[in-house]
Amino acid sequence: MNLRFLPITIFRETPKVTFFDAGLDSSNGCDVVIHSEEAISPPNEFNDEQYYLHNHQTDYNLVVTGKRTFILINPSWDEPHHEIFLNRSMGALEIPIGTYHRSISGEEGSVVLNQPKRDAFFDPAKEFIPQKLDRKNLVKARKSQPVYWFYENNQIKRVCLNPLENKVKAIS
Ligand SMILES: [Fe+2]
Repeated sequence: MNLRFLPITIFRETPKVTFFDAGLDSSNGCDVVIHSEEAISPPNEFNDEQYYLHNHQTDYNLVVTGKRTFILINPSWDEPHHEIFLNRSMGALEIPIGTYHRSISGEEGSVVLNQPKRDAFFDPAKEFIPQKLDRKNLVKARKSQPVYWFYENNQIKRVCLNPLENKVKAIS
């Protein structure tokens, strides 16, 4: 499964100032999710992980400050489990409809701008209800070996630790 990262356009960057265009043509929403310190969206309920799952919204998550780890679970994918160590340079991570997802910040926190694409049936009362992985195929997907995505040497890289496919691949 190849994830998509939509690039941003940096106009100017100095040691103390970064100025960029974060706009996405296809988006019709603009949401900000601030983790002021160590945090998880959505938070665990007791010991159970919880996830968001959208039916009428594709997410495009851009880290504005800090770093955020995203976990994506989608049993319909050939590789159903992904962990993305997202930073601003990677651009906006696309999270397709039907994908269980959660995000985690370290103790320094992070700010994420999500510019989703919502369809006519989008209802905020239904779209942001935390879900548990309560089906066999979801639990199996969560337990499967993740594909890791990270930024190194100015490139997005993915690595699968499956011993049969142990290689790092540069994406862009
Ligand atoms: Fe989401």
